[in-house]
Amino acid sequence: MKNGTAAPGRASIPERTLRTDNWRKAPIITFILLSGWVLYAFLRTVWQAAYFAGPEHYLSPFYSPCVTASCTPEARDFGTWFGHFPALIPFAIVTLPFLLGFRLTCYYYRRSYYRAFWQSPPACGVAEPHAGYSGETKFPLIVQNLHRYFWLAAGLISIINTWDVVQAFRPAGHSFGFGLGTMIMLINVVLLWAYTISCHSCRHIIGGKLRNFSRHPFRYKMWGVVSKLNAKHMELAWTTLATLLLTDLYVALVASNTISDLRFIN
Ligand code: FES
Repeated sequence: MKNGTAAPGRASIPERTLRTDNWRKAPIITFILLSGWVLYAFLRTVWQAAYFAGPEHYLSPFYSPCVTASCTPEARDFGTWFGHFPALIPFAIVTLPFLLGFRLTCYYYRRSYYRAFWQSPPACGVAEPHAGYSGETKFPLIVQNLHRYFWLAAGLISIINTWDVVQAFRPAGHSFGFGLGTMIMLINVVLLWAYTISCHSCRHIIGGKLRNFSRHPFRYKMWGVVSKLNAKHMELAWTTLATLLLTDLYVALVASNTISDLRFIN
C-alpha cells in the first residue's frame, strides 16, 4: 500500500508542491547551521586541550564536569571518577550522551532535522521523497519518547553548569572576582535554564494530568510561567547553541593564552 501523499484517499496531484515561495531556504539554513555546530562541538570535545583557564577558573561547558585523571586537577570540582582517558575520548563523557539525547529528542530539533536532514517532509505542504512513513511508533524513532527522561538529566547538568559559574566568581587566590568570561558563562547558564524550563515535557510535568487548575493554584501559576517561556522554545534552542559555542570559544582563547580575560574585579 502506498503511503504519504500517494496514500489512498489523498488528492492525486502530480506536482510535489503547489507552494510558490522559497520553501527550501529554511531547511537549507538549518542544515548548514546544525552541521556547523555539530562539527565544532565534535572537534572541541575530542581535542582535550584549552578547556580550562586556571587563574580565572573558567571551565568550558563542553568539558563539564571534568572528572577524569586526564583533567587538570584544578578543574576537577567534582572529584576524579575515572583514570586517564585515551586520545579523542571526551572528558565530559558522563554528561555528553545525556545532553546529546536531550537535544536530539527535543520536539523543536526533531521538527528541524526531520525537515533539513531527512526531508520528512522538507517543509509544510511539500511531499516527502520517502515512500513509507511510520511516524515515531517504531524503532529507532520510538526512542524519541524518552525525551522526558533526558529532560531530568538535563536539569541535573544545568545544576553542574551553574556550579561552574559560581566557581568562576571565585578566581584563584581570591574569594570573589569576575571578568568578561564570568559574564559570558553566566548568560549562557541563564539561557540554558530558560531552554530547559521551556521544554514541552517540563510544561506537561508542571501542568499536565490535572482535572482542573482551581485546586492547584501554585502549579497553575508555574504552568503560566513555563507556557510563556515555551512560546520562545525555538528561539531558546538556537540561542543556547550559540551561547554554548561562544562560551567554549572564549574559554579556549583565554586558556590557550590567545587573549587575556577582561577583568572587572580581581
Ligand atoms: Fe525541546 Fe524538551 S521540547 S527541550
